Formats: sequence, C-alpha cells, structure tokens
Amino acid sequence: MASVGKLKAAEAALKEVADGQVLGIGTGSTVAVFIGLLGRKVKEEDWDLLCVPTSYQSAYLAVENGLRLTTLDEHPTLDLAIDGADEVDPDLNLIKGGGAALTKEKVVDSSAKRFVVIADSTKLVERLGKFPLPVEVLPFARMKVLRVLAGMGCVPKLRDGGDRKDGPLVTDNGNFIVDAAFGEIRDPKALEIEIKRVPGVVEVGLFVGLAQCAYLGNASGVRTISR
Ligand code: A5P
Repeated sequence: MASVGKLKAAEAALKEVADGQVLGIGTGSTVAVFIGLLGRKVKEEDWDLLCVPTSYQSAYLAVENGLRLTTLDEHPTLDLAIDGADEVDPDLNLIKGGGAALTKEKVVDSSAKRFVVIADSTKLVERLGKFPLPVEVLPFARMKVLRVLAGMGCVPKLRDGGDRKDGPLVTDNGNFIVDAAFGEIRDPKALEIEIKRVPGVVEVGLFVGLAQCAYLGNASGVRTISR
C-alpha cells in the first residue's frame, strides 16, 4: 500500500500533465503510484500521450496501465519528466539510484523541458549524503572504481543482488552498482564531476541543477519547492 505522502505528491504532479504531451517516466515506488493515476486519467479523458520509461519496471507498469511508449530516438526533447528521488535538498539537488535506474533516469530527466520530482516528505534533507550515493559501474572496472572511490573519502560497497540473485546486482544496462557512503556532501556539483571522471564509471546518482520542482507529500498535504 503506497504511503499517503507518495500519493499526494503523485496527484500534484498529475495536474501538470496535459493531453498531447511526451512524458519522461522515472522509476520507483512513487513513480509507480503516478503511473497508476496517469493511466486512469489517460483512459478517462481519452488523451493522446506518449511516455519514455527509464527502466523495465516503469515500461512494463506503463503498458499494464494502458499507456503508450516511445523512445528518445523519436522524441529527443520531452515536455515533462516525472521522477522520484532518494534525497532532495532545498536547492533541488538530488540523490537517485536506490532502484538502480539512475543512468536512464538522468538521460531522460535531462531531456525534458521541465523535470518534476515526486517523493514523500521524508526525502527532504538539509544536505545530501545520508543515503549512500549510487554509482553505476562497468563490471570490468569494478575493482578500479572501488579503489578510486575509497580514495575520495567514502566507504564504497558493491550492491548485492539480494535474496533472489546470488552475487552482485546487475542493472537494466548490464552493469553493477557501487553504493558510496560519503556522509554529508558539501559540494554536490564538484563531487558529481569528480566521480564522472573516473574511468569505468557509467553514471553517478547526483542530479544537480536538473529539477525545476519537487512535490513532497505527507499526511497533511504537499510541500512544493521550485525555482
Ligand atoms: C531509482 O533508481 C531511483 O532513482 C528512484 O527514483 C528513487 O529510489 C525513488 O524511489 P521511491 O519512489 O521508491 O522512493
């Protein structure tokens, strides 16, 4: 059962969607709630809407909810992207990748004229970094990247596949995830650039200067942060 905060954030974002748009669709439990609401809206209003998903999860869920998919090849610029986050700071910098979908999320979110974050209000933090920073890594470069990240002052850990997969988690892109526990991140932009420069790093879950708005829901309503 989705938390009321996720539902309220998703409802707020739905008000931004209009007939005829091409939408970027993020990944995660909050986006899953949004996809359900969007599917119902599109059916009720008979909208002509297309979605670019950021994962198998959101692609399959979108189709199950009657939404039509497209690609960035056909629509390189999106009207709007709606995505979740693991942490949001007051400047709308984000940590993303808890669901291992950060690479496609960054491509899709940065392709939209407007990128809106939806999350329950517990995701708002003064400073990013309590949530270990996800970094997508080429399997071939695993040891090198772990070593370089450790040298940057974090505790890096290869993400495990969990109960249903022995060995490391494998992303939708066939790569690994390293969760890099930095603690408080003082300069997200500088850290994003530094990590992206490491050979073997595919993408880093710091989203700096990309989001225009965040809807943060809880039982008493929705807080909007925008710029
Ligand atoms: C997916 O990799 C993530 O970036 C998600 O967007 C993020 O983890 C938010 O997920 P929830 O909405 O499930 O908290």
